[in-house]
Parts: sequence; structure tokens; C-alpha cells
Amino acid sequence: MANSRAVRGTTSARHVAMIMDGNGRWAVERGQPRLLGHKRGVETVREIVKSCPDLGVTHLTMFAFSTENWKRSKTEVSGLMLLLRRYIQKEIADLIDKGIRLRFIGRKDRVEKGLRALMESAEKRTEHNNKLHLTIAIDYGGRDEMTRVMQGIAVDIAARKLTPADVSEALISSRLDTFDLPDPDLVIRTSGECRTSNFLLWQTAYAEYEFVDVNWPDFTPEIFGQMLENFMLRDRRFGAVAK
Ligand code: IPE
Ligand code: IPE
Ligand code: MG
Repeated sequence: MANSRAVRGTTSARHVAMIMDGNGRWAVERGQPRLLGHKRGVETVREIVKSCPDLGVTHLTMFAFSTENWKRSKTEVSGLMLLLRRYIQKEIADLIDKGIRLRFIGRKDRVEKGLRALMESAEKRTEHNNKLHLTIAIDYGGRDEMTRVMQGIAVDIAARKLTPADVSEALISSRLDTFDLPDPDLVIRTSGECRTSNFLLWQTAYAEYEFVDVNWPDFTPEIFGQMLENFMLRDRRFGAVAK
């Protein structure tokens, strides 16, 4: 098991956020259409979800489609949405069986109605599960999320339900899409790109980051386990002085 070899006193990562990148490059390197990379990427999602209990991960948040990804071709966007639909349909029984709670973060209002209904039904059917909290970010952007929070607060101040003095970090956190999730301990991005691309901007203020030069379809539970081990060797100070 990944945690057994770690020596430093740090606790293991409970919440891991995953920027699943490199599907397109994986396919293009093989002379295949980008969508094949996304299809293979779904296989990796299954493997990684399956590996979480053994690795001590209780919360897994996956970036599947960003607010900027609408800029891609119609074919790619609809292919991704279809893969998501199929993923929910195929996995739902297994998620229920394994006690996994599935949730979605992101705008929701721009997702096609049928898919949205499927997402909501999956959330409802798994809402009492707690073995693993699996959150999928669809049409999600950190800036968009914060903008929605600010609009909500502005509306409440205008309606005199809140005063400016009520606006606190806790209030903002409580209005984010992730309001009932702990902040991520570790963010992993595959494909070698070293940027956040608008993922969980507020929530990752003190997250640790790992950037791995492997495209998402080639990411494995072994690499994941290694990163969780690395995490345990880190000294997280949160602004204080090391003990
Ligand atoms: C990640 O792979 C999946 C999504 C962003 C939907 P990409 O499709 O971004 O793959 P690259 O980065 O082009 O290789
Ligand atoms: C980030 O990947 C979004 C997801 C993994 C869903 P992108 O491929 O969209 O990010 P950029 O364009 O390289 O920054
Ligand atoms: Mg990419």
C-alpha cells in the first residue's frame, strides 16, 4: 500500500483533485482521433476510482470539462458529453454497490437537459453513500464559480438579507459548488502542463501540487500511489514555522 513506506509525520491526502489532461495528445501521437483519447481516459477514471479505498483517498474530484472547453469543435464537445452520459449509465449500479457518492460541480445550466437529468438522478441515488466522495467537474471554472457566489451575495445584500460585514471567508466557502467538501490536499495534473487552467481556484489556496509528464490515458494507480507517498513527505506549514 502506498502509505506504508512514508516516513514523515504528515497525514495522507484525503481529498485529491485531478486535472485529467493529455487525452488529445495521447490519441494524436497514435494517429487516432482525439475522441479515442477521451474514451481511453474514461478507462483511467474507472481504474483510479477503484484504487481510492486502498490508497486512503476519501474524496476525489475530477476535472472533466472546463468553462473554456466549449471553445473546442462541436464534434469533440458532443463526444465528451456522450462519454459522460455513458459513464453515468454504465457506472451507476457499481457506484451504488460500492457506497460511492457521485456529485457534479459546475454551471449545470448550459448542460443539455437529458444529461442534466441523468446527473441529478445519479446524485440523488448515491446521496447517502460515504465510502468515497466522487465529484466530477463539468462546465466548471473557478472564476465562474466565484462570480456566481459574488452575484448571490450581491443579491442578498441588495435585499438586506446580508450586510457587507457578513461577507467572510466562511460565507464565501459555504456558497461555492464545493460547499460541503473539504479543501483538496493534493492536486495532480497529468500531461506535463504546469498550470491550473481555472480549477478550484479558491479551494486550492494551500493544496500541494504534482505535475506528472504522463498523458491521462497512461496514468495508473501505481503512479497515483507514488504521488500520494510523495505527498506524505511534504512539510505543510500553512504559513506557520516548521516544527
Ligand atoms: C483532457 O485532455 C480532457 C479535457 C480537457 C476534456 P485534452 O483533450 O485537453 O488533451 P490535450 O491536452 O489536448 O492533449
Ligand atoms: C484543463 O485542461 C481542463 C480539463 C482537464 C477538463 P485543458 O486542456 O482544457 O487546459 P489548457 O487549455 O491546456 O490550459
Ligand atoms: Mg488539454
